[in-house]
Amino acid sequence: MILITGVTRGLGRAMVTEFAKLGHTVAGCGRSPTAIEALAQQVGKPHDFAAVDVADDAAVAGWAERVLAEVGVPDLVVNNAALINRNAPLWQVSANEFSEVIDVNLKGVANVIRHFAPPMLERRHGVIVNFSSGWGRSTSPEVAPYCATKWAIEGLTQALAQELPAGMAAVALNPGVINTEMLQSCFGAGAAGYPTPERWARAAVPFLLKLGPRDTGRPQTAPS
Ligand SMILES: NC(=O)c1ccc[n+]([C@@H]2O[C@H](COP(=O)([O-])OP(=O)(O)OC[C@H]3O[C@@H](n4cnc5c(N)ncnc54)[C@H](OP(=O)(O)O)[C@@H]3O)[C@@H](O)[C@H]2O)c1
Repeated sequence: MILITGVTRGLGRAMVTEFAKLGHTVAGCGRSPTAIEALAQQVGKPHDFAAVDVADDAAVAGWAERVLAEVGVPDLVVNNAALINRNAPLWQVSANEFSEVIDVNLKGVANVIRHFAPPMLERRHGVIVNFSSGWGRSTSPEVAPYCATKWAIEGLTQALAQELPAGMAAVALNPGVINTEMLQSCFGAGAAGYPTPERWARAAVPFLLKLGPRDTGRPQTAPS
C-alpha cells in the first residue's frame, strides 16, 4: 500500500494515477473536500482518499487509525504535500504566512511519520520519502520560508534514516522542476516551459518504487 499526502493536484494527483495503473493500492489526503470527493469518484476502490490537513496532528492521528485498520500498513509513505510562500523578501512575509509554510512543509511531515511509522517499524519494512526540492539544496531570493522548510526536510530525513532499523529507509527526494500550481506561483509564466506532472510521474513513480534500504539517508533526485 502506498500512502501519499497532497493528492488533489500537481505531483500528488499524477502519482495516484501512476501507482494505481501499476496495480498498487493508494491511500491519500488533501485539504479540499470537494477535490477529494472528485478524486474518489474518478479513481474508485480499493483506493482511499480523505480530506485531512497534514498540519493538524489530531486529524492525521484519526486518519492514520482508520487507514491502518481499513487499508493496511504502508510499504511506501510519500510526504508530498507542501505550500510555497508568495514571492517576497523575507521581511515582507507575514508571521501567519511564515507559520503556515512551516506547519505544512515541516510539521506536517513529522505528523504523518508520527502516526504511520509505528506499524511499519513493527514489521521492519517500508520506505519513507520526504519531498525536498532543488531549494532544499540551494536557495533563491523571495522563497526563503520555503527554502528553510526544504533544507529542514533534508536534515530531518537524514536523522530519521539514522533512527530506522535495517530493512527500512528514509529518503529526501528532489522531484525536479515540474509545471504545477506551485511552480506557477514562484516562476510565473516561465513554469509553462517545464514538463507536466503526468509526464513527470511516468518516470518518477517507477523510480520511487525502486527505493529501498540501500538508499536510506542518501538524498535523491527524481529522473526527468
Ligand atoms: N513543482 C515543482 O517543480 C516542485 C519542485 C521542487 C519540489 N516540489 C515539491 O513537490 C511537492 C508537490 O508539489 P506540487 O508542485 O505538486 O504542488 P501543488 O501543485 O501546489 O500541490 C500541492 C498539493 O498538496 C496539498 N496540500 C497542501 N497543503 C496541504 C495540507 N496542509 N494538508 C494536506 N494536503 C495539502 C494540496 O492540496 P489542498 O490544497 O487540497 O490541500 C495539493 O494537492 C511539494 O512537496 C513541493 O515542495 C515541487
